[in-house]
Amino acid sequence: MKIAVIGATGLVGREMLQVIEEQGLADNEIIVAASERSVGKSLPFAGRTLTVTSVEEAIQEQPKYALFSAGAQTSLHYAPLFAVQGTTVIDNSSAWRKDPTVPLVVPEINLSAIKPTDRIIANPNCSTIQMVLALSSLQKEYGIRRLVISTYQSVTGTGMRAINQLEQEERGEKPTEPAYHYPIHRNLFPHGGDFLPDGYTTEEQKLVDETHKIYADDTIAITATVVRVPVVGGHSESVNVELRRSFDIATVRQQIALTPGVSVVDDPTHNLYPMPINAHHKNQVLVGRIRTDHSQANTLNLWVVADNIRKGAATNAVQIMQAIESL
Ligand code: A2P
Repeated sequence: MKIAVIGATGLVGREMLQVIEEQGLADNEIIVAASERSVGKSLPFAGRTLTVTSVEEAIQEQPKYALFSAGAQTSLHYAPLFAVQGTTVIDNSSAWRKDPTVPLVVPEINLSAIKPTDRIIANPNCSTIQMVLALSSLQKEYGIRRLVISTYQSVTGTGMRAINQLEQEERGEKPTEPAYHYPIHRNLFPHGGDFLPDGYTTEEQKLVDETHKIYADDTIAITATVVRVPVVGGHSESVNVELRRSFDIATVRQQIALTPGVSVVDDPTHNLYPMPINAHHKNQVLVGRIRTDHSQANTLNLWVVADNIRKGAATNAVQIMQAIESL
């Protein structure tokens, strides 16, 4: 089968290639596309070399799947051109996530949202994926009444320019092409995405809208603060969860640990809790600091960490493709 990766030279695109190889899919015909700037460049893949093509050429190849991570504008323009000829597009951008006709999928949770006729499937935002997966057993067993989320997001979520900015600042250099308004080295800012008229940011609003859509439950009250931190390995999230029923904290810990794709790392007596350095390059979502919130009934706190480029982007997209393929 032919698989196209659109945005293959980018941070997520490269990771998609890595995950495709790790998942034993390297024997398929892999088409790598990016902007005109990169056409003709070589990309190493599974011991061979792939040549970057234009998106138009990738369409001509009529791949069975096209994994997109080339920004919302590219997805808006090109995804329908693939879809109309029968290619299934799995799109990592925000372009289609809110479209009611497009399923927004975390395979462990809502694969059933995909209909056989769907040709565009949206991959959720990275911070949403790791949180909804970590909490999926609680939503199922107890129902979630309210979420209060604070994120500590890696610069990798902003792309290559942000990593370059951090590394140049770490070396004491002036960033050549800064991704942020402010220095990120020895700093952080409560600002991810763009500000909306109500004072929240687009990254905060995504956590609200996408959680409702993935759980198919608009009644959950959700409020979020997104913070960018000088970290590269993954996103961390402090989540305060009010459930609809009472719970036993030991049972909750077990339920979270049994969730496919989730590992509980939670042993305060040995200073064990998830950190971005543990999550980096891994597909698992790590959960720790699971504890009762004594200030309010039916409420707990936990800490969720995952590599935002892996389960938050590339891994989830490849898993969607594999899941559809095996339907
Ligand atoms: P290129 O490397 O040629 O600019 P990142 O999120 O890490 O910045 O990566 C963005 C990815 O999207 C890159 O592979 C980039 O290609 C690709 N891209 C950006 N704009 C376009 C476009 N108009 N058409 C196709 N690919 C694009």
